[in-house]
Amino acid sequence: MKPLYLGALIGLVVSGSIGGYYYLQNNGLNEAQLEAARTLSLASLPTLPTDPSNAVADNPAAIALGQSLFNETALSANGKVACATCHLENSQFQDDLPLGQGIGTTDRRTMPLLGVGYASWLFWDGRKDSLWSQALGPIESTVEHGFTRTQVATYVAKNYQEPYEALLGPLTTLETLPAASPLGNDTQQTAWAELDSEQQNDINQIFANVGKSIAAFERTLLPVENQFDRYTAALLAGESPTEKATLSQKEIDGFKIFVGKGECIQCHNGPRLTDEFFHNTGVASPQNSVQNPVIDHGRADAIAIVEADIFNCLGPYSDANQDQCGELRFMSRDEHLFERAFKPPSLRGVAERAPYMHAGQLATLSLVIEHYNNAPTAVSGHTELNPLGLSTNEKASLLAFLEVL
Ligand code: HEC
Ligand code: HEC
Repeated sequence: MKPLYLGALIGLVVSGSIGGYYYLQNNGLNEAQLEAARTLSLASLPTLPTDPSNAVADNPAAIALGQSLFNETALSANGKVACATCHLENSQFQDDLPLGQGIGTTDRRTMPLLGVGYASWLFWDGRKDSLWSQALGPIESTVEHGFTRTQVATYVAKNYQEPYEALLGPLTTLETLPAASPLGNDTQQTAWAELDSEQQNDINQIFANVGKSIAAFERTLLPVENQFDRYTAALLAGESPTEKATLSQKEIDGFKIFVGKGECIQCHNGPRLTDEFFHNTGVASPQNSVQNPVIDHGRADAIAIVEADIFNCLGPYSDANQDQCGELRFMSRDEHLFERAFKPPSLRGVAERAPYMHAGQLATLSLVIEHYNNAPTAVSGHTELNPLGLSTNEKASLLAFLEVL
């Protein structure tokens, strides 16, 4: 045999057995699957990105103030609704309901908040570009807190003067003001229009600062380690999975479908299992669409809203320089492309927070899997999904994998 062939043959045998050894070592995952597992595991979570639009984003005093405000029911029309009413600490900061219940009923499902400090766009449609400007939305929503920004400013001046001033500087003296907001009902809008622009600005400033404190608190809510993270850590450390860090064969098969045939990783990627972008996945309108007769256009409608928002990154209440607002300045404005597109939620802890989708349309994870397997036509716009052709066994494995997250 010529030396060249002999070399090639030895090479083949050696690499073949290394491959086989590697395969067994990695609990049946090939190199690409192991790499995918690494990217999805909590160990890959980068440090929390800074928020230049919020000068107190990581200030401990702001975190403490924000935590009080998050739980403060007095910031609502009936004195009963706080952020924590819908975002419950013991339920991943969501409420297990198809639609949120505040002063009235919201038209979308309450979103879980663990790891929300990593999101660039907030809400199912991303109509807010920072955590602090997001927090201002529910306070003035007629179905959530039903409050107004003048009431917020007056309440904070009266009840939180000391912590507020220590953190954010002197509070403007506010004489008794009517409930007023540019977003409220007719009376509230008229009352707002009657304030002079200096008063409006002072109130907006306090309102924005309330949002910034709440955001500082929300940034401390982080995802927690699960069985999949422990399993992946063991594999990557070259240890064979122990009882504390193992997955069953069914769960491993489900993981392989998640990153392979199921194409889930296309949108549910990174350690939070979301790409933080917007996709039309053909989810139907809610059953009770008598109550929701209007089609929810998702991201398509949100683009103009975030652009016009005075509390966005480029607005007068932001602490960022223009060049720190890249996400907003360079966002895609193609409304057609984003028709009925929504943000994929993080799938961490997903099995414990039914029902699913932006209006709780799907009651169980099995129905979610059926949805992906069938890839129905979109109500409007175009779905990005293709039918998957998963067998009964494959669907069961995928479900088992989602349950370990
Ligand atoms: C009545 C229930 C309710 C109340 C009260 C409420 N929320 Fe929400 N929250 C929701 C719903 C519903 C959504 C999704 C709404 C949408 O996409 O249009 C949401 C979305 C969010 C999001 C977006 C998460 C993400 O991943 O994009 C954050 C952050 C949030 N809420 C924080 C708050 C804060 C802070 C408060 C208090 C100031 C608050 N919420 C009050 C129901 C509520
Ligand atoms: C094209 C992007 C895309 C792909 C591919 C995709 N998803 Fe999703 N996923 C989304 C979006 C967007 C939502 C929210 C849709 C909505 O509410 O209308 C979502 C929602 C979910 C939810 C509900 C989460 C919740 O809290 O409501 C689960 C579970 C889920 N996906 C699992 C999967 C699985 C499993 C696969 C693979 C079979 C998959 N996804 C593939 C984009 C995608």
